[in-house]
Amino acid sequence: MARIKVGVLGATGSVGQRFVQLLEDHPWFEFGALFASERSVGKRYREVAKWFLPSEMPEEAAEMVIRSMEDIGASDSDDDIRIMFSALPGQVASNVEKRCAEAGYVVCSNVSVHRMEKDIPLVIPEVNADHLALIEVQQSIRGWDGFIITNPNCSAIMLTLSLKPLMRFGIQGVQVSTMQAVSGAGYAGVPSMAILDNVIPFIEREEDKMESETLKLLGTLEGSAITNAPFTVCASCHRVMVMDGHTEAVWVTFEEPVGVDEVKQAFRDFRSDFKTPFAPEKPIILREERDRPQPKLDRDAGKGMSVSVGRVRDGRMKNAIKYIALGHNTIRGAAGASILNAEVLLQRGYV
Ligand SMILES: NC(=O)c1ccc[n+]([C@@H]2O[C@H](COP(=O)([O-])OP(=O)(O)OC[C@H]3O[C@@H](n4cnc5c(N)ncnc54)[C@H](OP(=O)(O)O)[C@@H]3O)[C@@H](O)[C@H]2O)c1
Repeated sequence: MARIKVGVLGATGSVGQRFVQLLEDHPWFEFGALFASERSVGKRYREVAKWFLPSEMPEEAAEMVIRSMEDIGASDSDDDIRIMFSALPGQVASNVEKRCAEAGYVVCSNVSVHRMEKDIPLVIPEVNADHLALIEVQQSIRGWDGFIITNPNCSAIMLTLSLKPLMRFGIQGVQVSTMQAVSGAGYAGVPSMAILDNVIPFIEREEDKMESETLKLLGTLEGSAITNAPFTVCASCHRVMVMDGHTEAVWVTFEEPVGVDEVKQAFRDFRSDFKTPFAPEKPIILREERDRPQPKLDRDAGKGMSVSVGRVRDGRMKNAIKYIALGHNTIRGAAGASILNAEVLLQRGYV
């Protein structure tokens, strides 16, 4: 199969670099163009991307000249690009992503701006691939040849994946307290003077995103709209001095009593229906050790695409269970999630 050309919007940033790293040698996709701000336009990727990932910068990307988002579609070679992966700051992404969808591109976005719009799918394939049906709704409402699909916020994705196998027990409410890595704020996000020797108990808009996105993801598609899952999520979000990997302490209350062993078995049995390059065989990995999961040891599980859960125990409230969930925030929580979405779109004939 000929590989499909893709563009990366915001290719020099924290998530953009992950895209570039993960797309190197992807069996289905190849680089078509890399885009960033005017600061970087016209320069080679190797000159402007402050590469901070442990592997070498991919050779092919290193030599590519950064393009301006103003001339998307202006080059003849843009006709070959089918998918735009977006890792732009929100205020820039809104217009650029819409322009791309209007021009016929498939936009797989990491950005929050469009996630909660009614006709834009917010998708984790193992959780709600059926919500992709909103693509047709979106195209017919907006008259676009292309479309936008989004993946969730980096903390919402870990929580939601872990809740999916528990939905059948009847969830009544969820409380979650996060310990989020500094890479989640972007390369220039948290000054070292602020985070060293510290915990910051505030992340702009993060709690809202966790509380709303989780319910849309676990909601049901009824006709041409999503009905949110019928419970509340209450989140408290904190930045900690970890490079990569978000850890979450989760309390779930159920309508009826549910045993610790039943919850563990539900985690163990959870499998993916997807056989694509980025789909982990086990989206959830249950750790039985008393002190796991930990960011340093578990963030790369399933090549960074699995969520590790552990310390499943009695929640000490009526019908409650508590556990820890952990995942790689720039892989499963961002670039890897978008790439998996794109693979599923391709497999299902949307690209
Ligand atoms: N980091 C995470 O774990 C994570 C997880 C999920 C979602 N997200 C979302 O992903 C997006 C990117 O986050 P990030 O952490 O990668 O940010 P970042 O490190 O600050 O990178 C931002 C990227 O956007 C480009 N850019 C900035 N201003 C621009 C402008 N005015 N016009 C065009 N391009 C511009 C930058 O290019 P230059 O280098 O040329 O300035 C850079 O490539 C955000 O919306 C964020 O909320 C992040």
